[in-house]
Amino acid sequence: MKYLPANPQLYIENRKRFAEKLKPKSLAVFNSNDFMPTGADGTMMFVQNSDIFYLSGIDQEESILVLFPDAKEEANREVLFLKETNEHIAVWEGHKYTKDEANEVSGIRKIYWMKDFPAAFNALMCEAENVYLNTNEHLRAVVEVETRDARFIKFCRERYPLHNYNRSAPIMHELRAIKSKYEIEAMQEACNITEKGFRRLLGFIKPGVMEYEIEAELIHEFVRNRSRGFAYGPIVASGANACVLHYTDNNKECRSGDVILLDVAAEYGNYASDLSRSLPISGKFTERQKDVYNAVLRVMRAAIKMLVIGNNIIDYHKAVGKVMEEELIGLGLLDRKEVEKQNPANPLYKKYYMHGTSHFLGLDVHDVGSKYILFEAGMVFTCEPGIYIPEENLGIRLEDDILITKKGPFNLMGNIPIEADEIESLMAGKSIKKTAI
Ligand code: GLY
Ligand code: MN
Ligand code: MN
Repeated sequence: MKYLPANPQLYIENRKRFAEKLKPKSLAVFNSNDFMPTGADGTMMFVQNSDIFYLSGIDQEESILVLFPDAKEEANREVLFLKETNEHIAVWEGHKYTKDEANEVSGIRKIYWMKDFPAAFNALMCEAENVYLNTNEHLRAVVEVETRDARFIKFCRERYPLHNYNRSAPIMHELRAIKSKYEIEAMQEACNITEKGFRRLLGFIKPGVMEYEIEAELIHEFVRNRSRGFAYGPIVASGANACVLHYTDNNKECRSGDVILLDVAAEYGNYASDLSRSLPISGKFTERQKDVYNAVLRVMRAAIKMLVIGNNIIDYHKAVGKVMEEELIGLGLLDRKEVEKQNPANPLYKKYYMHGTSHFLGLDVHDVGSKYILFEAGMVFTCEPGIYIPEENLGIRLEDDILITKKGPFNLMGNIPIEADEIESLMAGKSIKKTAI
């Protein structure tokens, strides 16, 4: 791993909070992700399952975590099973955790090699009554491949049909929605790396540059700062490409007079950041582009003010929609009379602003968390309004990552330039005041 290890207290506290949510005599099992195959003997880069990582810090394939808070023997309350390393693996694949290292990372004392799993797990199951297993219950998840967790569920239910089975996912969603100080440190680092990448672009973007050259600048800066790379597929969308919300071709030439929408951010230590900025390719916005830009910025600032304890995502999105509606009327894109007659279930602003304003952010970019809970300190949301006008070749989105605190919203990206004038000055190579929202 390129990142520096987090304080193991993070995982110790996460397991404690998870254990408190279980019924008596319960055992929970979490599996690592697989290496995803590509073709022939190829695989994609390994990305750990967020839940086993959250509870153990173990960032390696073929790992199983078993938590059994009521186990009779204290040593059996937290048990980790790992792929046993050997000289062959060391030569061909490189380093894997030793038991001591896994203990240091996770704070878990009882660590077995995987070959011991059947017997050790059987002994634990004979003591347990309830079993918590894990599935991906993200509302928008589309999972066609069978994960290790899914295979384990089949195995477990077949081998132990008379236990009571429960879902870990609702507990994980509740816990992961609120970030601890260690997690916020990792997310702040991800944002700081993203800032470095963004600043690198301010003197680089100009007419004639290809979108993929911008992507290349970013990955260079991210990896040299201990990031694995992009936290999600980077969107580098010039001109009308910006109106394709999930544009990832990144293969067009940047043209003078267009605005380029960048939705690009680094991960760090498996935690995501999520940034969007919109820059004038020539270095200067036109009057119209600046008007649209400033409208989006005003919506963003109004929205950030609503990311406070006690609010909720449903009311928040409705309120932001109202602010956006006024801005679109001001820009001449909507007609006030038409808006007054609109169907509230399908407001007119959706023609120019068709996505949500905020999502949970954490180990996953669209992180887990319920839309029905009230905002609490420790939650991190993106704030990402946008206006998309294909007929004007223009799409503008601005996105920062906001931590909810007892003192109000805290912008983890507060140092990343956002004012239109500041962006223009920096692109012209002039130094400028520090931004703060
Ligand atoms: N980058 C993905 C998103 O903004 O939600
Ligand atoms: Mn984004
Ligand atoms: Mn986002």
